Amino acid sequence: MDIRIPVSVCQYDELAKQEQELIDLAKATTQKSYSPYSRFSVGAAALLADGTVVTGSNQENAAFPSSTCAERTTLFYANSQYPDTPVTALAIAAQTGGKFTDAPITPCGACRQVILGTETRFGQTMRILLYGSKEIYIINGARSLLPLSFDGSEME
Ligand code: THU
Repeated sequence: MDIRIPVSVCQYDELAKQEQELIDLAKATTQKSYSPYSRFSVGAAALLADGTVVTGSNQENAAFPSSTCAERTTLFYANSQYPDTPVTALAIAAQTGGKFTDAPITPCGACRQVILGTETRFGQTMRILLYGSKEIYIINGARSLLPLSFDGSEME
């Protein structure tokens, strides 16, 4: 088996205005991060099917494992406030030392699983926009971030 993952690598100017705005919001939301321990400020912005946009940032705790990443903060908030509205796109950005990362920020394993769970819940994949100041990665659907994934279908 040879699993290949399609990733579009592009520049900000090449994106549609709506996607640029989603990235702008993810970048702005890094300012709301509470990350005194890692000093790594992550912001995310989710676009919902009806045009609603929800943002979130990483929130840390002195008991490190009790912290939550920006992606999960955002998706769980979106899903709890708008339980009937699919998420169609998710943008993520991060800054450290006062500047955005050169390379795109890629979600941790737990967040990939939650992105997949949101897609499964609504039966709709999302466009995942990973921002880096040098380039942006676009990935269509969490399965590309999480090959051989567990989505619960095996339990049925
Ligand atoms: N973090 C995120 O919020 N999202 C990611 O995609 C990677 C990591 C957070 C978790 C922790 O607060 C800090 O960044 C360092 O790992």
